[in-house]
Amino acid sequence: MTEQRPEDWDPRARHIQKDQIPAYDAMRRECPVAWSDYQQWTLFRHQDVMQALEDHDTFSNAVSAHLSVPNGMDLPDHTAYRRAIEPYFAPEPMARFEPECREVARALVATLSKGQPVNVVDALSRPFALRIQCAFMGWPNSLHQPLADWVVKNHRATLARDRAAMADVAEEFDGYIRDLLESRRQAGDQAPDDVTTRLMREQVNGKPMTDEELVSLLRNWTVGELATISASISILASYLANHPSLLRDLKAAPDELPGAIDEILRIDAPLISNRRVTTREVNVGGRTIPAGEKITLLWASANRDEAVFGDPEAFCPHQNASKNLLYGAGIHVCPGAPLARMELQVFMEELLKQIDKIEPAADQQPERAMFPTGGFNYLPLVFR
Ligand code: HEM
Repeated sequence: MTEQRPEDWDPRARHIQKDQIPAYDAMRRECPVAWSDYQQWTLFRHQDVMQALEDHDTFSNAVSAHLSVPNGMDLPDHTAYRRAIEPYFAPEPMARFEPECREVARALVATLSKGQPVNVVDALSRPFALRIQCAFMGWPNSLHQPLADWVVKNHRATLARDRAAMADVAEEFDGYIRDLLESRRQAGDQAPDDVTTRLMREQVNGKPMTDEELVSLLRNWTVGELATISASISILASYLANHPSLLRDLKAAPDELPGAIDEILRIDAPLISNRRVTTREVNVGGRTIPAGEKITLLWASANRDEAVFGDPEAFCPHQNASKNLLYGAGIHVCPGAPLARMELQVFMEELLKQIDKIEPAADQQPERAMFPTGGFNYLPLVFR
């Protein structure tokens, strides 16, 4: 049992929730390995997060008792599932999906009203993430709205750590996926040749995945994609609104977009954190963490660590790329990174083709998203 300890901080305190990233900067300088009753241990520094990523025997991903493919798995089970899913994000399927992705981005940007404030979260970020996820998976457009509502409920339940509500939202999502699996099973050979059908035919350790494994995998892909892509679009739009010369440079040299996107998302994290649990006593940054305790790896802080990046706000794509933990590192490094990178690049290319300027809306303040989500809840910008 975890002993009572004095809290080093309260991750849910109002001043932290209001504007997470500067609050994490302050914690990283004052108490880089911090205990709270809500999160247990939080690691703020790049070197401490790297220690956890590299030592996956001590820092296990089996944080929850529920099946989570592949996120909650450790070696050796994890390897077989990663082997099955990585080909879905290989260069060839990415190139095949690109034109559809571009059309979704082009059409969405074309709907923007110019010259007046637009809430980017509703107009671009969420619809782009949803449409692109459904297109990639081969899911019908009729799922857009239920999934949009589901994301909001899932976020609310996760933040409140409300177990009953979390179980309900998981059940609701599982229902959508089970219907999709069932309709493909009934169609047999006539099932559409899409990612969902192909995953159902995939073998792991010599046998097809169970429905429970498929549902868990698809839930993790969906959560992995929807929240992060949506947050990324808002962050990128906001950054360019506040750095007009960078927008001009990128319009003139779109080849620089991939590096610029990764660097903007290093400075302002779309994914705030992930978790681990210790399998043995371990020393991190001078503090002793007993076995069986929960660890939060705070990407939103590690990626701004001045010990590695100097001034966290300085935009230096070439210099910072090799240390950037945007997509994690080690055995759990994001398998969807090639998809995310392609989607964000294509979206930004289409945006920069149709837009000359982005400005913060006068007299309207953006509202930042709260933990565990990055980005914005409300982002009023003017496109010209
Ligand atoms: C900007 C977008 C994205 C960001 C910033 C991001 C970031 C990350 C990070 C940091 C991890 C490592 C987690 C850990 O070590 O515990 C991760 C893992 C993962 N991501 Fe992403 N991701 C993005 C998009 C996607 C997409 C598009 C998909 C799938 C369609 C995806 C699916 C996953 C999965 C399944 C894992 C777990 C991998 C494992 O445990 O082996 N992500 N992601």
